[in-house]
Amino acid sequence: MSERIPVIIDCDPGCDDTAALLLAFRCPELDIRGITTVSGNVALDKTTRNALRVCETIGTGVPVSAGAVKPMFCEPVYAPHVHGEDGLQGIPLPEPQKQVTGKHAWDAIYQEAVAQDGKLEIIAVGPLTNLGIALAKYNDLAKRIRRIVIMGGAAAGGNVTPCAEFNIYVDPEAADIVFKSGIPLCVCGLDVTLKAYLTADELREIGALGTPQAKLFEAVTSQNCEKRFCPQGAPLHDPAAVLYAAGDGIFSVQRCWMRVETSGTITRGKTVTDCYSDAQKEPNVTLVLDVDRKKFAARVKEIMARY
Ligand code: BDR
Ligand code: CA
Repeated sequence: MSERIPVIIDCDPGCDDTAALLLAFRCPELDIRGITTVSGNVALDKTTRNALRVCETIGTGVPVSAGAVKPMFCEPVYAPHVHGEDGLQGIPLPEPQKQVTGKHAWDAIYQEAVAQDGKLEIIAVGPLTNLGIALAKYNDLAKRIRRIVIMGGAAAGGNVTPCAEFNIYVDPEAADIVFKSGIPLCVCGLDVTLKAYLTADELREIGALGTPQAKLFEAVTSQNCEKRFCPQGAPLHDPAAVLYAAGDGIFSVQRCWMRVETSGTITRGKTVTDCYSDAQKEPNVTLVLDVDRKKFAARVKEIMARY
């Protein structure tokens, strides 16, 4: 097999973040160097505790570094109606034996980028605050990161407002910094993640694998209450970004230009997407638009069977 990809997962667990972490640690293509947490689905103390508890369930000692308590320039927005007050729908998990590193997420990202000498990739599945701060603090960071795979945004409509997807809506200014950074970006937005769903039967099959990790995967995913977006099953937003980062074979993409709207009462947080206009500038994004869903579901099950 070719060299494993060194990655940091920047996340806000979160039910689908938890599913993403469970998968990532059994993707042989990925060498997970660290996890960073951010305020998003719930407050930072909760996302961090959840990340530590999920690591405990996985049995990994990967360093976890906490990041921003709030977005760069606006007040936090949470999603307890999607993920529960604790961020994991009250699902009981072992208390973590390990603690956070004590480093700030943005410093952990920078230090790992230096250590990996241009090979580090980031899988960002929460609001982009930590990356925005990292890029603001370290002038030379952009050229040190090989690629960021983002779960966020959409070429089509949003899930918080008609225009904005949650991760971008929460911190549009940070997202704007990331989208203007020049770092190669792959965007797994709602366009693809609403197609990356598991049916109730497929989910039950994963739970029936019987390991604590498979049962946790089933529990966090079946709590999904996004029926109005995806009546066929539970969309795996953050897991789609992890599987794309591990290998793009089952996905379809298009190169395009994308920027984040930071003003506008209706449009704030929109990822403005230009695939074919006369005004189109040099594409800065690989936009992931589709997935072979059957293969996606099979791949998820096969990865979860590795526990
Ligand atoms: C995204 O928002 C969060 O609620 C999920 O964890 C995912 O990252 C989907 O819009
Ligand atoms: Ca998330």
